[in-house]
Amino acid sequence: MSDTLIGRPLPHESARLHVSGRAHYIDDLPEAAGTLHAAPGLSTVARGRIRNIDLSAVRACPGVRAVLTAADIPGENNCGPILHDDPILAADTVSFHGQPVFVVAAETRDIARQAARLARIDYDIEPPILDVDAAIAAESWVLPPFFMQRGAIDAAFADAPHRLSGNAVLGGQEHFYLEGQISYAQPGDDGTLHVLCSTQHPTEMQQLVAHCLGWRAHRVSVECRRMGGGFGGKESQSAQWACLAALLATRTGRAVKIRLDRDDDMVATGKRHPYRYHWDSAFDDSGRLLGLKLEFASDCGHSADLSGPVNDRTICHIDNAYYLDALALKSLRCRTNRVSNTAFRGFGGPQGMFVIENVLDDIARHLGLDPLAIRRANFYDVEPGARSTTPYGTLVEDNVAPALVAELERDCAYTARRAAIAKFNAGSPVLKRGIALTPIKFGISFNATHYNQAGALVHVYTDGSVLVSHGGTEMGQGLYTKIKQIVAHEFGLPFEDVRLSSTDTRRVANTSATAASSGTDLNGKAAQAACNNIKARLAAFVGELTNGAVAAADVQFADSRVRAPGFDEAFADLVMRAYRARIQLWDAGFYKTPKIHFDPVTKLGRPFYYFAYGAACSEVAIDTLTGESRVLRVDILHDAGRSINPALDIGQIEGGFVQGMGWLTSEELWWRPDGKLMSHAPSTYKIPTASDLPDVFNVRLYDNANVEDSIHRSKAVGEPPFMLALSVYQALRDAVAAALPAGRPLQLDAPATPEAILRAISGGGS
Ligand code: MTE
Ligand code: MOS
Repeated sequence: MSDTLIGRPLPHESARLHVSGRAHYIDDLPEAAGTLHAAPGLSTVARGRIRNIDLSAVRACPGVRAVLTAADIPGENNCGPILHDDPILAADTVSFHGQPVFVVAAETRDIARQAARLARIDYDIEPPILDVDAAIAAESWVLPPFFMQRGAIDAAFADAPHRLSGNAVLGGQEHFYLEGQISYAQPGDDGTLHVLCSTQHPTEMQQLVAHCLGWRAHRVSVECRRMGGGFGGKESQSAQWACLAALLATRTGRAVKIRLDRDDDMVATGKRHPYRYHWDSAFDDSGRLLGLKLEFASDCGHSADLSGPVNDRTICHIDNAYYLDALALKSLRCRTNRVSNTAFRGFGGPQGMFVIENVLDDIARHLGLDPLAIRRANFYDVEPGARSTTPYGTLVEDNVAPALVAELERDCAYTARRAAIAKFNAGSPVLKRGIALTPIKFGISFNATHYNQAGALVHVYTDGSVLVSHGGTEMGQGLYTKIKQIVAHEFGLPFEDVRLSSTDTRRVANTSATAASSGTDLNGKAAQAACNNIKARLAAFVGELTNGAVAAADVQFADSRVRAPGFDEAFADLVMRAYRARIQLWDAGFYKTPKIHFDPVTKLGRPFYYFAYGAACSEVAIDTLTGESRVLRVDILHDAGRSINPALDIGQIEGGFVQGMGWLTSEELWWRPDGKLMSHAPSTYKIPTASDLPDVFNVRLYDNANVEDSIHRSKAVGEPPFMLALSVYQALRDAVAAALPAGRPLQLDAPATPEAILRAISGGGS
């Protein structure tokens, strides 16, 4: 039944292809005759001036067809999305270990990779800046420091009954998309170039490729059918590889594919920003925050990339679900000689929410109260009131955090289990357990207002089948499936009657990145608008056919039929008749998110259309002798609004949570003192596997129609659940606290690896 398509737990449109290995990723596509394969040559020092490059051995290698350096770029040598500070190939200086300096195209990928190793590059090595402390000391920024103050901060501290200071370190994270970065550039016969690219942002790829070639945009097209994961890592950072493939393809006149080796991908592409924090908090006897002074420093790497917006999102998520009366913020955007860090699920939000959860947990331990009670005491008001305005000036009008948390608290028997854990710990000297229940509130929309627009193109063919193109990209999250549901629902057709075409800059122009979790919100509405245009024409046609007896407003599309009082015809038949009557059966749709605005200078406005909420309760065990930990049980209640597809949404919640768990527990990036990344393969970088899943993992959707007019009143779900994993880290703190001698402060570094847990227990966290 077509009217039940919305809200149905349909499988992902490519589920069968994914699990049987038949889904085509770019490297699976048939290769054009004469295709060359490319590999980058990476710098071997973190910072220095290039004194001499000798590529003669690379060029002499049999099978090598082209070798390019910065000097061979006809247009702009930049792949930076906002500031133009990201060289495609290093020109005179290198600024991180692993930076592309040249690129080779050869008859096979192996030849290209082996030839790349034959380069001889001499550097005048300069001392690199390798962490935020060194960057702060050198005042080395990618963007100027940002200060912000709200409320009477000095008075709050002067009058507060309690004060505490704290600090924390938080590591970065490798995206570890299963399909690595790949671009395949194919020259046309008319001075055009088509680039198949695994990217979340085809339009930006189109622009950056055009700029590096010195071309105008209409000569370049970029296409992506699906990615094997992006997670933010293919928002801006797919550009370097698209540009390199494009440069080689236009130079050689042959199709050129560049698929990064996993180690090169991990070394040469940016990650989640690591942060370091210092704070002072002022609070009352009940643990209610009266004032917070917070300095946070992020390691942006060698260039700005998306670091400005990432750090701004941190600022907009320092509050998480809590009202902050007085706040002083200092945000340092550090330039270091590391790979340029970038978007990663949550886009700086997780780094904001991480610290406020620590601030509140410290307060709870200081006052000897249950951390959940402190969290509850600090929630925003439910009805907009005195405690409802965020530090960035938005009124929180849809706050379901208190109700959602209360429901989860009851369902997972938090209080009883907390008591049982205390009892267990009292009798267990080596193994200690911990539990934590944490909420999330995540703002939905791009902070940059102009990104909140989308387009779609819907074709109804004369047999009544439908093809949809839109600006969003599919990375496994299920966007195409949801768009299919939305379009089939509009026309009253079965799911199978609608197909999605690949995302292509030739079909929909000037698109935004599929990011900020807003893929369905934006493209779903645009596709719906396109359908409405076509439906309006068909409805008017029914009016004509009935000589005006039927009003357009009375025409219904359901069950593959078009009906009105006194009219009933199969959709396909009516469509054929409409075609013969020369009625346009395809159309474009456009959408822009209403109500939003944000001043990037003052950081005030309404950047988000609405908030997504959730909560998780995690129970963990640690071994105090080895530092090992396990997540024993997780209960999640998450607000996906009125879910368009509960199966996909629960998949996003489970996947996001486990990815967040990896970030906070096992995924540790480690650099050699000279700046070389040593954790550059799965052998040295530990992402969660099936065996790391919690033994008990209960995930439920919180039924909560969006108060705003989002697509079918659903809510975005791609990123928010990632931050539910903060409950795992807080539960680990709870377990560590149980192992600490009385009076010793709790200081647990993230990720909470076994080493970090042992350091915390022995009182030596950083
Ligand atoms: N889910 C899968 N399977 N693969 C991904 O790469 N990326 C996440 C999230 N879920 C991702 C994913 C990120 S970072 C974002 S912003 C959203 O999906 C983007 O898609 P959406 O806007 O359609 O939710
Ligand atoms: Mo997601 S980090 O917004 O691509």
